[in-house]
Amino acid sequence: MKQQFEKWEAACAVADFDDEEMLECRAGERQVLLVRLGDRIVACPAMCPHLEERLAFGFADGNVLTCSKHLWQWDLNTGDPLGPAEKRLPVAAVRIEGGKILVDTAPLTCSDD
Ligand code: FES
Repeated sequence: MKQQFEKWEAACAVADFDDEEMLECRAGERQVLLVRLGDRIVACPAMCPHLEERLAFGFADGNVLTCSKHLWQWDLNTGDPLGPAEKRLPVAAVRIEGGKILVDTAPLTCSDD
């Protein structure tokens, strides 16, 4: 189902993410994880939907994000669980404006779990 609304919030300066593959930061009221996917960036919640491990401790390979604790994995293009993962990971769009990374936090607040 198509998302009905957007809520763009500043997360960090573009320069803070220059050399990073992943970066945990705050966007509005929530902690998010920015992940570089080739030439674009996506955002997801900072904490794993399984048992609240910080996803920044995990790793990204291509479009797959892996939690370090029990190795749940997700497709970062869709948020769909892969392998043994039992829950979706909401994934949010990111855009760059005025030297800042903005995150559309709306998908992060309306989980369909
Ligand atoms: S806490 Fe992340 S997979 Fe279990």
